[in-house]
Amino acid sequence: MERLSTGVPDIDSMIAGGIPRGFLVACTGEPGTGKTIFSIHFIWEGLRVGDVCIFVTTEESRDSIIAQASQFGFDFKKALEDGKLIVIDALMGLEDRWALRSLDIEELVNKVIEAKKALGYGRARLVVDSLSAFWLDKPAMARKYSYFVKKVLAKWDFTIVVTSQYAITTSDAFGFGVEHIADGIIRFRRFVRNGVLRRYVLIEKMRQTPHSLLMHEITVVDGKGLIVLGPVRERKEDVTLPKQVSDRIVAAQKKKEKELLPNIENKRSKSQGNSHVQKSSKT
Ligand SMILES: Nc1ncnc2c1ncn2[C@@H]1O[C@H](COP(=O)(O)OP(=O)(O)OP(=O)(O)O)[C@@H](O)[C@H]1O
Ligand SMILES: [Mg+2]
Repeated sequence: MERLSTGVPDIDSMIAGGIPRGFLVACTGEPGTGKTIFSIHFIWEGLRVGDVCIFVTTEESRDSIIAQASQFGFDFKKALEDGKLIVIDALMGLEDRWALRSLDIEELVNKVIEAKKALGYGRARLVVDSLSAFWLDKPAMARKYSYFVKKVLAKWDFTIVVTSQYAITTSDAFGFGVEHIADGIIRFRRFVRNGVLRRYVLIEKMRQTPHSLLMHEITVVDGKGLIVLGPVRERKEDVTLPKQVSDRIVAAQKKKEKELLPNIENKRSKSQGNSHVQKSSKT
């Protein structure tokens, strides 16, 4: 099976080498957990190996995506100029050829096909960041829209990464949106531990793939991008109790010991006395 590297080697090894060609993978998670940065890696890897690349942005402007990529040494600007990459801006209401005038799912799909035709033949990568923006005001349409995107674009040799924010409305009232349609789910998470923000990634689903079941801690490093620190199970600080809690337990133990100590000391000296007596009686 042909697999496409995600551009993050440690995430590739969690999914048997990469995303199977033609898959639609959903990256879900809370704000600031790394979905956009992961998507940028996926596109940069595509540019590196000569894939046709399209990035649709609804959350940030085209310039913001270019600036974020350049912080990790990924020259999206040059790729745009060289006609290897198209960034479709659905946020700024731009009037240029590669902008969406509204968050309309048909307009999106048509624009992506137009971009693919402009970039030429060959294996292609598409990011839609975020796809959930297209059903913000109509969450009941999440599944239908996801299916539409997958079905239409399947004919165009795309391997697709879409991001999806967790909205209570989409998961509670209307069932999941893109999750059942997607061939894979990469779940990004965040927790505050000892007052420090920590980010994690978990492969929740990857069809036809013996994938890792372990949550891995990740971080974002300036100049480099997304880095996997290691599986949580092996990292002591992730499984131990928060410091305030463990401090309280230690304090309570000490208090208890103090209360018991006189008794223990008494018993010890008594038994020591006894053994001395026994010993002396033997000799
Ligand atoms: N140059 C950098 N150096 C270090 N950390 C960075 C750098 N750029 C971004 N980050 C970190 O990455 C975070 C943004 O991650 P990202 O944009 O991928 O989140 P996201 O999951 O897409 O969130 P949202 O759902 O809000 O779009 C920032 O909040 C910051 O913590
Ligand atoms: Mg984002």
